[in-house]
Amino acid sequence: MKDLLTIGEYEPEQLQSFINISESLQNTPQLLLAQKNILFVFEKPSLRTKIGTEAAITHLGGNVMHADPKTVFEYEEDPFGCRESLTDTVKNISQWCDAIFSRVYKHETLKEMAENADIPVINALCNLHHPMQALADLYTIQQEFGKEEKVSIAFIGDANNVSFSLIEIGLKFGHDMRFSAPVDFYWSEEQIQYFKLLEVEYGGSFFHSEDPFEAVKGSQVIYTDAFVSMGEEDILEEKLAHFKNYQVNRKLMNMADTNARFMHCLPAHRGIEVTDEVIDHANSLVLNQSKNRMVVSKGVFASLINKPAVTELELYQYNGI
Ligand code: CP
Ligand code: NVA
Repeated sequence: MKDLLTIGEYEPEQLQSFINISESLQNTPQLLLAQKNILFVFEKPSLRTKIGTEAAITHLGGNVMHADPKTVFEYEEDPFGCRESLTDTVKNISQWCDAIFSRVYKHETLKEMAENADIPVINALCNLHHPMQALADLYTIQQEFGKEEKVSIAFIGDANNVSFSLIEIGLKFGHDMRFSAPVDFYWSEEQIQYFKLLEVEYGGSFFHSEDPFEAVKGSQVIYTDAFVSMGEEDILEEKLAHFKNYQVNRKLMNMADTNARFMHCLPAHRGIEVTDEVIDHANSLVLNQSKNRMVVSKGVFASLINKPAVTELELYQYNGI
């Protein structure tokens, strides 16, 4: 696979390999990205994805270049409406760079980039998916519970990019995935069918309910994200009204496993989707997740850019030299 646009296109073995290579590179840094240029193109704000991933690439000896989408991809005063097609743009970028890491409003933009670039295109978040977050979250859960343990993970909040990728990766690893949201912001019937297919194929389970108290019952991990994602500012009031009973607070946590952990991809809106008491609790893993955004980026970039040179086996051999 040249690109990483979604979790769905990867098998569990390949996803675990990204994590294992990342662990190895974290413990024994190697300059696997020396002389490599990675272009960051971000249409939306970012802290963890931008800085955490740049830190990872820098640890591996790579060079990050930042393209401002407004001046590189668009030119507002252009009399023809579009300075250059996205296809032509990424074909040019492929002559100088070794990968594109991009955060976009529309998943279609990433698909068009990936289809036309000769270099890997890696999704830094789009409207539908956040695969790099899901990999870091899986690794965080494996650090807490062990790599073999099947865990009950409840996502309470919006049916969005973060929850979609989390449910995908959780089901691919056989976990018990649970979900709750208000009916107007729920998965489509097609998405639920897709989760059911993953359930059958990989042996996990998918439970969903509009009742958050039902969804968290006995869960070992309670996860939430912003109720209003970037790009949805125009429906902020409407969404906040619908989600008012979905806050992760002490009362909700009390319905979960007694030692339940709390997770959030961040940025968090304290007092809205989560209370201070929960996010600042000793069982909150949010900073582990944040650190792991850097750790897990290492295996992804090293594997996709050096493909097929870096496999787990070759990395161990490389470390042994
Ligand atoms: N979790 C996450 O992707 O954070 P940023 O939006 O700050 O990159
Ligand atoms: N769902 C959020 C995630 C931010 C990391 C958003 O898309 O804004």
